[in-house]
Amino acid sequence: MKTIFSGIQPSGMLTIGNYLGAMKHFVDLQEDHECYFCIVDEHAITVPQDRLKLRDNIRSLAALYLASGIDPDKSTLFIQSEVPAHTQLGWMMQTVSYIGELERMTQFKDKSAGKDGVSAALLTYPPLMTADILLYNTNIVPVGEDQKQHLELARNLAQRFNRKYNDIFTLPEISIPKVGARIMSLQEPTKKMSKSDENQKASIFMLDDPKKIEKKIKSAVTDSEGIVKFDKANKPGISNLLTIYASFTGDSIKDIESKFEGIGYGPFKQATADVVIETLQPIQEHYQALISSPELDHILDNGAEKASLIANKTLAKAKKAMGLARVRKDK
Ligand code: AQP
Repeated sequence: MKTIFSGIQPSGMLTIGNYLGAMKHFVDLQEDHECYFCIVDEHAITVPQDRLKLRDNIRSLAALYLASGIDPDKSTLFIQSEVPAHTQLGWMMQTVSYIGELERMTQFKDKSAGKDGVSAALLTYPPLMTADILLYNTNIVPVGEDQKQHLELARNLAQRFNRKYNDIFTLPEISIPKVGARIMSLQEPTKKMSKSDENQKASIFMLDDPKKIEKKIKSAVTDSEGIVKFDKANKPGISNLLTIYASFTGDSIKDIESKFEGIGYGPFKQATADVVIETLQPIQEHYQALISSPELDHILDNGAEKASLIANKTLAKAKKAMGLARVRKDK
């Protein structure tokens, strides 16, 4: 059985971009894969976070994973900072990373542009992400398109380590969904939808109530043509709404275009809001039942224990390969 690893940062409330690009696929994949799903809180602190909000976001993300369909009997769900092997191997992977290649990462450039006091951790985030993946002998990493460059780097670092020390890491493959890999901002449809976007109208959050969802979709930026047609270059707003509709329903873009031919944007936007609300409502109900439950803590405790077991084994192999720690004479 192939092994899957993927993580989501608790850097804010999840958007439907995170859901469609990542989480929704995790639920299907757990049926026939060994799955590790992680709340990557150590990645979240690469940019400033409010400590109390971060703690809430960590718990909230755990509840959302479960509410969206992650089954703790099938998948291992855990918090990155509760498995110390991640930062330990992350440090070791930094030693095989070059500053130049880290500086070339688009996400680093985007998140550091024009900012003072950019943390060193923002630059060295990809070797930590590499460690996250390699610890579980991962075969496949399901992510949205924005993570492609980091995954390519992870493969390079794993290969470099294997060549330099010992052939211990499995090379991970990236898996990007065909539809929904890049959900765009509702207000600037040429920019991706992000949970940390300051413009609240730009993103639909997983816990937004139906009224808010409707309002955000109705005020989504489109064009004046009035034709529901997928054309990313000339109609990015409508193309984004078509992608959202298609991802939530499983309908093809062609079928949706035909359904709304000659009808205009008003009814299309209403129908898009309806399909989003229909999927999110049961997830939100399940979330409310979980968020304050001790069951959530038990699941996360078990997850950390299970993850540590395998992560520590890989870490021990990597340490030995690098010559870290001592040769014991007492055994
Ligand atoms: N807009 C998106 N469309 C499709 N997939 C997306 N993902 C993120 N945004 C979109 C996918 O969600 C997973 C978790 O992402 P992450 O939390 O690790 O970090 P991110 O990619 O930086 O996501 P955000 O929402 O943009 O977070 P912030 O604002 O904190 O930077 C990944 O698989 C990602 O591809």
